[in-house]
Amino acid sequence: MRFGIIGTGTVGRTLAGKLIALGHEVTLGSRTKDNTGALAWAEQAGARGHCGTFADAAAFGEVVINATSGTVSLQALRAAGAEQLAGKVLLDVSNPLVFSPTGELTLDPVNTDSVGEQIQREFPDTRVVKGLNTVNAMVMVDPRRVPGQHNLFIAGEDVEAKAQVTAVLEQFGWPAGSVLDLGGIAAARGMEMLMPFWLRLMGHFGHADFNYSIRTAE
Ligand SMILES: NC(=O)c1ccc[n+]([C@@H]2O[C@H](COP(=O)([O-])OP(=O)(O)OC[C@H]3O[C@@H](n4cnc5c(N)ncnc54)[C@H](OP(=O)(O)O)[C@@H]3O)[C@@H](O)[C@H]2O)c1
Repeated sequence: MRFGIIGTGTVGRTLAGKLIALGHEVTLGSRTKDNTGALAWAEQAGARGHCGTFADAAAFGEVVINATSGTVSLQALRAAGAEQLAGKVLLDVSNPLVFSPTGELTLDPVNTDSVGEQIQREFPDTRVVKGLNTVNAMVMVDPRRVPGQHNLFIAGEDVEAKAQVTAVLEQFGWPAGSVLDLGGIAAARGMEMLMPFWLRLMGHFGHADFNYSIRTAE
């Protein structure tokens, strides 16, 4: 399958590498065509790895992944272009983290809105699925870094799009029952609001190889 990844940071490159290893084709998108990190990534990725602008990545992908900071995701996706994203599944892995000069963390948007919802509102013809934002990039593509049964969450309006994303997550190594569907895209609020808690847990453990494990009475 062809994937377009909007974002050349740790998450974009980690997801791109895993998708290539799984036999998919990837275009990694950045603001400019000559991004040195993206060019270096494409060079080592081989024939199925490409790089270009956000618009190139969006046009290329049958599935598109937003891997930019939630505070700039709308700008990045506007540059990608609504026409390139129309009808496509967009997996949004972003978090809207804002750090003050003293290191204090807030989220923007928060409480009554989320990046997932902002994207779905601005791109109504795109099938937005929130997911993967609650785990570290390495755990995203290698869930066995954390022992035992643990969970991912997804949210979105389009049931088929969520099934398509779940199938990709299964290829990453997430067992079928480990992906919990929280409902419509408004559930992205809670998923994004886990981040201040997640960062405290990382401080507690001193590393990022951990995850949430949800137990129920059934
Ligand atoms: N790090 C993790 O383990 C982890 C885990 C879960 C979720 N997340 C979330 O995943 C997302 C990506 O994180 P990351 O650390 O990989 O990357 P990042 O540093 O947050 O974002 C990198 C991308 O943002 C683009 N960018 C920067 N400023 C921009 C602007 N003003 N307008 C448009 N695009 C802009 C960059 O473009 P260029 O390519 O042109 O430089 C680059 O492609 C974030 O929302 C993060 O919270 C991260």
